[in-house]
Formats: sequence, structure tokens, C-alpha cells
Amino acid sequence: RKIVTIVGARPQFVKVAPVSRVLRTHCREVLVNTGQHYDYKMAGVFFEELSIPKPDYDLGVGSGNHGKQTGEMLNKIEEVLLRETPDAVLVYGDTNSTLAGALAASKLHIPIFHVEAGLRSFNKRMPEEINRIATDHVSDLLFPPTETAVRNLQREGFADHVFMVGDVMLDAVLYNIELAKRNHRLETFGLAERDYYLATIHRADNTDDRQRLKAILEALSRMSAPVVLPLHPRTQKMIADYGFGDLIASSPAIRIIEPVSYLEMLLLESGAKGIITDSGGVQKEAYFARVPCYTLRDETEWVETVESGWNTLVNPLNANLADAVQRRTDVPYIENLYGDGNAASKIVDCMMKFLAERRG
Ligand code: UD1
Ligand code: UDP
Repeated sequence: RKIVTIVGARPQFVKVAPVSRVLRTHCREVLVNTGQHYDYKMAGVFFEELSIPKPDYDLGVGSGNHGKQTGEMLNKIEEVLLRETPDAVLVYGDTNSTLAGALAASKLHIPIFHVEAGLRSFNKRMPEEINRIATDHVSDLLFPPTETAVRNLQREGFADHVFMVGDVMLDAVLYNIELAKRNHRLETFGLAERDYYLATIHRADNTDDRQRLKAILEALSRMSAPVVLPLHPRTQKMIADYGFGDLIASSPAIRIIEPVSYLEMLLLESGAKGIITDSGGVQKEAYFARVPCYTLRDETEWVETVESGWNTLVNPLNANLADAVQRRTDVPYIENLYGDGNAASKIVDCMMKFLAERRG
């Protein structure tokens, strides 16, 4: 049996690592990297650090507008699928790489398995929302990480091929957290435990809107402790385009660094006094690390983090972060909102059963 796995962006490298490890003990995996992310610090370092197998195909698609980027991926993935004739295609999350993989496979009548299915922000301005909905609707096996995601899928008419498995990002954290703490030190970053905030900003809605990005940077600059900001290349570009360099340079709080590796990120997350983000993955990692999270968005797909009190939505336009931090009170920790850390094995079991039944 042969499965073609498609990845391309940073969060997908984190998710593929635990699944691929299990999958390869059961069948042949052909790994395709679209090249959506290509800087060493956005891609290569994850392959090295997480021991992700070398891709069988590097499509080298790179950046571009949605149509160009997705179209080029679609074209190249179709060629790979025609050549490899796999039994199924495995896609992760909600990026343009996910959508291109799912579309290419669906037109060739190849079964599609979607890890992280059923997430919804109910905000169709987000490219990710379109990517998720379209991918879920052409998939043959859906792996929602939460009950909320299961309910979202039910509402859209899916029942049969939905398997709640938990979140593979927890598998990744459990596998790597000790390694992160052994191999890296906060002192290397000039930081002391619980003495700083960690921030990440890259959501298009926040970066590509002058007013919102300015409001966010100003809010970060008003924090009373250092704010370490590993800068996503998209945000770096927009800061330069909008001329916000001075705003940052004159802020004693904001400390910009390059994107960090996954192990470094786990360490920075676990030592922070709070995490400020618009990332999907980082909201969950904050909860795993039991660190309060402040999410600079109007809504989130990861509603359990908010309902449990570990995550607070902060409107980016009048981002009163300091106020949100002050108002947060201690809340009890609710375990297992994202499963038990064995999502990868459950996913692979379901996939193997599906393929065996089809064959039989
Ligand atoms: C993509 C995903 C988003 C995900 C994020 C994770 C889509 C539509 N968006 O957003 O869901 O949360 O990845 O990080 O798929 N760039 C570089 N070097 C790189 C990669 C990007 O310089 O290695 C710059 C380019 O200027 C590029 C811009 O970042 O145009 C945006 O990259 P792109 O992959 O289109 O979207 P992301 O914002 O990274
Ligand atoms: N991440 C990382 N280094 C960074 C920023 C993020 O290793 O400098 C990791 C983070 O720990 C998480 C994943 O990248 O595992 C999340 O990716 P990102 O925030 O880019 O995308 P999203 O989850 O929003 O789609």
C-alpha cells in the first residue's frame, strides 16, 4: 500500500512528524513538499530537528498570490499522483498546500484523508476557512481533533467517516518537550523564566491591514515585560512596507528575533509568563504548556482554550493587551481538551482499516 502525504508550510512540518513516524511502520509513504515555506528557518530546520524523512518530491512552488500559488501546486501535485498512483492522499490542516493536495486527488478519484478536519472560524474572509471547508468536503476520512470539530462536521452533513482522534500537535509536544528543555536554555535568548512574553503574529487579516498591524505593535510596545517576537517573514515584509521599523526600534519592550526552531519555540513557550499570538498552533501549545494565552483575533477555531479560561480573545484593533493580562484570574487546568497524545496511532489505524476494507 502506498500513501502520498502532502505538506508545505511550517505547521504541517510539526504535524507530519509524529504521524509519519507511525505511518511508515505500516505502509509506504511518499512525501511531497510543495515548498510553500522555503526559508531554512521556516522549513529546513524542522526537517532536521524533527527527523522528518527527506521528501520524495520537492515541488519548489514558493510564494505568490492565492491563485498562482495554489494553481502551481495543483498542477505539480497532479503530476506526482499520476506517476505514483497511490492508494490514498494524506493532507494536514488548512493551508493552500492542503487545498491543492485535496483538489488534485479528488479529481483523480484518489481517497483523501484529512488530519485536523472540522475546524471552523465561521469567518470566510480567512483563506484558511475556505481551504478547510473545501478539503473536508472532498475527503474520505476526516480526523477532527475535538468534539467541537465533530459537531461542525455533523452540521455540514458528515457522520460516517468522521473519527475523533485528538490533536497530533499534542503528540508532537509530548515527544519533544523534554528534548527542548535539555537542548536549549532561556539564557541563550537573554531571558529569565516567567519574566517575558512570547508573541507571534502572521495572520493575513492582521499583517495586511495597516491599522491593525500598527495597533498590535503599539499594544506589544506597551507591555511591562520584554516581548520576544520571532518574526514570521510575512510580518517582517509588512513592517518594512508600512514603515513600522521606527515604532519597533523605539519600543523598549519589543525584541524581534528570527523565526525559531520547534524545540526553541517549545522552550520559549514553556518559560513565558504569557503568550500573545494569532497562530492556531501556538494557542494550543500555550494551553499544553499551561501558560495564559492572549489571542489577537476576533474569533478562534480553538474554542476550548477560551472556554477553559486559558485563552483570551483580544480585539486587534483596540488591542488592550495590558488590560487583558491584568484582568485574567487564575483558573483550574482542565486536562485532555485535545486528546491523550496518541492521535497519530489512531489516525494510522483508521487509515489502514479503510484501505483494507476497500481492498477486501
Ligand atoms: C501560511 C498559511 C497559514 C498558516 C501559515 C503558517 C495559507 C493561505 N496560509 O501563511 O494558514 O497559518 O502559513 O505559518 O496557506 N515568506 C518568506 N519565506 C518563506 C515563506 C513565506 O519570505 O519561507 C513570505 C513571502 O513574502 C510570502 C509571505 O511570507 O509571500 C506569505 O507566505 P504564504 O505561505 O503565502 O502565507 P503565510 O502567511 O506564511
Ligand atoms: N513555530 C516555531 N517557530 C516559530 C513560530 C512558530 O517552531 O518561530 C511553531 C509553533 O510552535 C507551532 C507551529 O510553528 O508548532 C505553528 O505554526 P504557525 O504559527 O506558523 O501556523 P498556524 O498554526 O497558525 O497555522
